Amino acid sequence: MAIKVNRRMMSAIFLVGISCGLVVTAQVSAVQELLAEYGREGAGKYNAVNGEKLWKRVQVDAKTGQKRSCVTCHTNDLRKPGKHARTGKLIKPMAPSVNADRLTDKKKIEKWFHRNCKWTLGRICTPQEKADILAYLANQ
Ligand code: HEC
Repeated sequence: MAIKVNRRMMSAIFLVGISCGLVVTAQVSAVQELLAEYGREGAGKYNAVNGEKLWKRVQVDAKTGQKRSCVTCHTNDLRKPGKHARTGKLIKPMAPSVNADRLTDKKKIEKWFHRNCKWTLGRICTPQEKADILAYLANQ
């Protein structure tokens, strides 16, 4: 009996180990693949410090005069939940260290880069800007 429980526990631990590994792998591969794609689109070496600056840079919206940055919705602390500036909806933390779903899905990342760069900066981000921001976010 004791042995059975032990085996069951062992396989449970094993399975938990595997799924954690898969989550981390998904994150690393989505980020690596996107960085490679941005490179092919003309980005040079990514720079997380520039990414952080861009993330925090405040831009005045030409139409509304509103001050906007990525921080507006995602907050200054990437480990904390954010709040949508327009709808008030809760946004889950951006930091992969506290939210394992982050940066695991290339399509999702691209979709939100497109939408959020347009809203925040009034234009889409360049491959270099996306690479820099991604490098910054991946370390959080
Ligand atoms: C108006 C509010 C708002 C602003 C400003 C904003 N975001 Fe977001 N962002 C969202 C929402 C909403 C989501 C999708 C919901 C979610 O994933 O929790 C999201 C998701 C993302 C994701 C997807 C991450 C993933 O893997 O889940 C990325 C990348 C992102 N934003 C980047 C940016 C960048 C870069 C900026 C600044 C240029 C920015 N956001 C500014 C609201 C905003």
